[in-house]
Amino acid sequence: MITSNLTGVVCGNSDVLLDQLIDEGVHFDLILTDPPYNINKDFGNKSDCLPLDEFIAITAERMAKIKKLLEPQGSVLWFGIHDYIGFVQVAMYNAGLHYRRMNIWHYENGFSRSKKGPATHYEPFLWFSNNPKKWTYNVDDVRMPYKSTERLKSPVKYKAADGTTKIWQPNPKGAMRGDVWDFPTLAGKRFEKEKTPHPTQKPESLIMELIKAFCPKDGEGHYNGTILDPFHGSGTLGVCCEKLNAEGHHIKWLGIELEQQWCDIAEQRIADIEK
Ligand SMILES: C[S@@+](CC[C@H](N)C(=O)[O-])C[C@H]1O[C@@H](n2cnc3c(N)ncnc32)[C@H](O)[C@@H]1O
Repeated sequence: MITSNLTGVVCGNSDVLLDQLIDEGVHFDLILTDPPYNINKDFGNKSDCLPLDEFIAITAERMAKIKKLLEPQGSVLWFGIHDYIGFVQVAMYNAGLHYRRMNIWHYENGFSRSKKGPATHYEPFLWFSNNPKKWTYNVDDVRMPYKSTERLKSPVKYKAADGTTKIWQPNPKGAMRGDVWDFPTLAGKRFEKEKTPHPTQKPESLIMELIKAFCPKDGEGHYNGTILDPFHGSGTLGVCCEKLNAEGHHIKWLGIELEQQWCDIAEQRIADIEK
């Protein structure tokens, strides 16, 4: 049973193990994953070099499984690349999931090999929910400082839902975050401590913010949801969950990864967290 230990890294093929999880009747509050984008990265396997029709077919199969694995009010966050994100979005609609937002991971420290077009400064990621009306989004946990106090110089009036005119006041917890998520990639010397040999490791800063925004909480304000990453790579999702758990949260998580070398790195990163 994979679910006998619903926290940790499982080394295996998620195209097989997701079926096993479905058979075991397990569900997740959040499926947050960064799968192969099909852009020929070398993960030690051929998963990122599929003919386009195979990529489309396997994405559809995966999405049908994701739908079955979500809690009734669960969400999926699925990273992709601008080339193919359209195919992924269609697969999500076809699986019966409900569109919430096309988000952008924006960075300015990426590395562009070609001078034949603009430098790449973003990767899109899709948010779909299982239920059309109910989902988790912890708006206050990811507020940001207001960019300017200009709006405060003269009162801004707006019409409230009850028809009355109100004066807008800034939220003392900060501005609502937008759907462009600004976090640097792990390129360069400043991230050499965090960076592993995995070719597409995501920054902890980004994944941590996503967990805070989308993981359900208990009545005491602790994150206590269940999270699955079926393409776990070097283990960034697990590392972020365990760092939060070390602060007193209660997240249960599962990271599935095909390659033993990345599973080993993930286990080591988790072991290195100071508890
Ligand atoms: C884009 S990387 C994930 C990187 C990860 N987010 C991190 O921060 O390290 C995708 C990973 O999926 C793995 N993978 C590809 N096909 C898989 C499959 N069928 N089952 C499990 N893992 C798979 C690859 O080996 C690769 O490490």
